[in-house]
Amino acid sequence: MSDAFQKIKEVLAAVNAATPKTSEELEAFRIQYLGSKGMLKNLMEEIKTVANEQKREFGQQINALKQTAEDKFKSLKNSLDARADASEALDLTRPGEPLPLGSRHPVSITMSRIIEIFVRQGFSVADGPEVEHDWYNFTAMNTPEDHPARDMQDTFYVMDAPGMLLRTHTSNVQARVMTTRKPPIRIIAPGRVYRNETISARSHAQFHQLEGLYIDEGVSFADMKQTLLYFAKEMFGAPKIRLRPSFFPFTEPSAEMDIWLGTDTEENTRLTKGTGWLEILGCGMVDPQVLENCGIDAKKYSGYAFGMGIERQALRLFNIPDIRMLFENDVRFLRQFSSSIV
Ligand code: DAH
Repeated sequence: MSDAFQKIKEVLAAVNAATPKTSEELEAFRIQYLGSKGMLKNLMEEIKTVANEQKREFGQQINALKQTAEDKFKSLKNSLDARADASEALDLTRPGEPLPLGSRHPVSITMSRIIEIFVRQGFSVADGPEVEHDWYNFTAMNTPEDHPARDMQDTFYVMDAPGMLLRTHTSNVQARVMTTRKPPIRIIAPGRVYRNETISARSHAQFHQLEGLYIDEGVSFADMKQTLLYFAKEMFGAPKIRLRPSFFPFTEPSAEMDIWLGTDTEENTRLTKGTGWLEILGCGMVDPQVLENCGIDAKKYSGYAFGMGIERQALRLFNIPDIRMLFENDVRFLRQFSSSIV
């Protein structure tokens, strides 16, 4: 047998003995045997030295050798790749998948800001039911059945449940708290309320209010004024407030509070209808009858209360043109608040 056949045997033995362990070593293996200047290419050249009748046999052996080298290369490459994938999956230093940032609802953001201002003044948050008994929503709040004040608020009554309704204001929490706790009482009650109203860009059949109640010995109108002035300054940066006489069945005297926006900008002129004043809330001294209805001695205790809507404040705060947008839950709208500071 000629030298050329001997060389094939040697190269085959070398290919079989090779144990490349890293991708660099495997690449060196490929270049050494299968590369364009590799050993197989060199062996091909040897065909010139082979006798004619053996050329065919030589060619077959070269092909078999090439196949062996290629198979070895492929299987080693596959196992190295698989190992690389596996170690990648276990790479604990890789950064995590980014989580999409959620967003708070503009009503929640507005509510949180208001709550924070009153909590700073010593108020704590109280809660009450949205499906409420007539007594807490109206009667205890000095609004008996035939009272004309009931017409002020169009009520949703619960079918087949006499005396049950969807609360028309958060004032029901006043009655809930006063009948279960003893003064001093200093609470705010944020929550959802319902009224049978025509839905438009400015009003909705469901919305949010925040109620305030402070009862102790010797609480005065001046205390209320100071608390509300602080709120107006903190919430709106308003330099002054105005208390206009008003009427609510549950307070005496009653007032509505306006904040001073001025008429410097076109928007403020429009919002205040040219007066510079914007109405924000209703308030007053808790009517002694309400205290008595709830079992609190009106000779010993006095208090003030206030109630405000949240949606209109949210519309102003975020420049939202239509109240309905707050209840549609369109994610394209809601996502815009994902970076809002609470
Ligand atoms: N409940 C009133 C409303 O829904 C708001 C209100 C006014 C609440 C005066 C009060 C208050 O506590 O003292 O319009």
